[in-house]
Order: sequence, then structure tokens, then C-alpha cells
Amino acid sequence: MTVELGNFQIRTRVVFGLGGISALGVTAKETGAERYLLCADPALEGIGIIETARKALSGAGLSGETFVKVEPEPFLDGADDAAELGRSINADLVIGLGGGSAMDTAKAAAVLITNEGTAEDYIGLDKVELPGVATIMIPTTSGTGAEVTFTAVFTNRETKAKGGINSPFLFPDVALLDPELTVSLPPDVTAATGMDALTHAVESVTSRSATVFTESLALASIRLIGENLRRAVFHGNDIEARDRMLLGSLLGGLALADAGVGACHALAYPLGGFYRIPHGLANAMLIPHVMEFNLPAAERSFALVAQSLGEPVEGLPSRLAGASAVEAVRSLCSDIGIPDSLFDIGVPRADIPKMIEGALTVTRPVENNPRLLGIEEAQWIYEQAFGES
Ligand SMILES: [Fe+2]
Repeated sequence: MTVELGNFQIRTRVVFGLGGISALGVTAKETGAERYLLCADPALEGIGIIETARKALSGAGLSGETFVKVEPEPFLDGADDAAELGRSINADLVIGLGGGSAMDTAKAAAVLITNEGTAEDYIGLDKVELPGVATIMIPTTSGTGAEVTFTAVFTNRETKAKGGINSPFLFPDVALLDPELTVSLPPDVTAATGMDALTHAVESVTSRSATVFTESLALASIRLIGENLRRAVFHGNDIEARDRMLLGSLLGGLALADAGVGACHALAYPLGGFYRIPHGLANAMLIPHVMEFNLPAAERSFALVAQSLGEPVEGLPSRLAGASAVEAVRSLCSDIGIPDSLFDIGVPRADIPKMIEGALTVTRPVENNPRLLGIEEAQWIYEQAFGES
């Protein structure tokens, strides 16, 4: 659904291109910073990427510290620890290097350096009072779009609830995207993170807050991901496919930053919080079922999705065209090895009521969803995702 245009602004300077990591020093210097905190994904240790980043920074005359204790599906206290390290060295720049976990930790640390309290105090919308220090995000997966969004998502270690710090102060200053950095991603991570990116784009198209701008960005993202995700999964060294995927992920991130996501993200959160299922995989396993559920409420949007996925929908009524988008995404999931059932990844079916309760508290995505999502509807979608098991 496309609603009347409000306003649209890209708050982050985007630098995109092969070898872009070598520009990190100059880019950091341009922010006026002298001391950096680098929040890096520990999976990057040993493959030279963290070292390359550090060298680029020291070559430009910056000093700093590296925080590598970033956990997958990060806990709130990780952001507090990163911020403490940043404060201890008077960091005036925070760099996120990695997937969504590293970037979210970096975005939160940047505002925790300048604001009192802990990350938990800022979970919600518009709770951050002061701007943070400068930030540069360098994604090494093509998935979250976190390099251009105003959200950082964390899990509460005690309650297992997942929630986001949402504030305009979290928009990164610079997104530095270098496709070369994504080449070493293994096939399963490429598949899951790529499906997260596709989910952002699909949910942006069907969002109740969609505009002509977000729709254009999201449809371009869907086309790029549809054309290149299989190639990136099956041939990780295909630099053109990696380049297109990173661009697709970026465009999906720009769309979601304005249009918001929907039911799939709400329903995926408890899977991450309770069972540590990676965010991308959780979305990948739910999105075909969420699309099927949403189809009657957003036929035109799904027809556009189908067209962007290259489905032969010319002349078809929008319901049929939209249905082919659902089938195309199902085939994509199957081709790239996304498991069929939540049962296969160790989620207990008996926990559905607990998962529903968790999902329905994620208010913004639930409100953005084109079809009303209540207890029965959430139950239906989770049941589909378990299948016959
Ligand atoms: Fe996501």
C-alpha cells in the first residue's frame, strides 16, 4: 500500500565500491575524529579485515581501541561494555565493522558515550537525549541494512526479550560499503543474511507506512537480491553477485529506515531472543508464510514484488501475480538451503504461545503490517513454519 508522501531524507553519507575499506582512514579523518573505538565482529579475526581497518586508521593519524567481544544476537550489556571502553579512551568516533551485531553495538555505544545510563534505559522510541559521537558503519554481510538505519536491536540477558533502541541519533554518519569484505562469508550465512535483506525490502513494500520513495528503493532491492542471491550463495567469489547483494541490502535498509518492517520481523524476534536463532535465518523461515498470510491484504504490492523478482506476471490479475511472489520466495528459500521447519532448528512447538506473546509486544512492525496480526493470526503463521513436523 502506498500512502501519501510525507518526507524522505537519507541521513547517512554512503560510500560504495570495491576496495572502499582503504578509504577508511581518510573518511574517519573527515569526521574530525582523533580517537576511535572499533567494534568488530570476532568472526573477522584471522582473515585480515580488522587489521586492514586498523592500518587504514593509524595511517591517517588516528589512535584507538578495538572491541571484539561482539556476540551474535547481542545482549544489552555488550553495548555497555563497548561504551565503557570508548569512554575510557575519550573516543570521538565509533566504527562498526561486521554484520548487524557489530554495527548495532557500535551505534548504541556511540550514544552511550555521550548519554548517561545503560543501553537498557534507551530501549524504545526516541528515548536518547543527546547526539552520540561520530559513527562509520562497514557491513561485512549483505543483510541487515544497519549501516543506514536508526535502530540497534539487543536481547535482554535475563528476560530474553528482544528490543530496539530507536532514535534519529542512531543514524550513522557514514556507511562505507566494500563488496570485497563480503566474499569470505560462508554459504549458509550468505543465504540467511540475504533473506533478511529481502525481507526488509518485501516488508517495506507492503508496509502501511510505505511511500513512493521507499517503494522504489525496496523494489530495486528485491530485483538485485532476486537476481544475485543464488549466485552469491553458490559461488562466494562471484564479486559481481557480492557487489549487487551489498547494494540490494543497502537499498532495503534505506527503505526500511523510513517505511518500517512488518509481521515477519515481529514474529522472528522471539526466535532470536529465546532460542538464539540468527536473525536472518528466523526471517528466512517465516517470510514465505507471512507473505501468504498478507497476500489478500496487499495484492497490488505483492504483484510488484513478483514483477521485481522476474516472474512472468504480465496481464495477470494482481491476486494471481501476487501469489507468484510467494511461490518465487519459497523456491528461493528452498534453493539456497533454508530449513523447511522450525522443528529442524530446535524450536519447540509447545512454545508457540510464549512466542506469540513475545511477537505481539513488538508494536511498530505489528502496526506496520498490512493485515491485522492478533493471537490467532500469529498462531497460524507459526504453525505453517513448523509444517507437518
Ligand atoms: Fe532484519
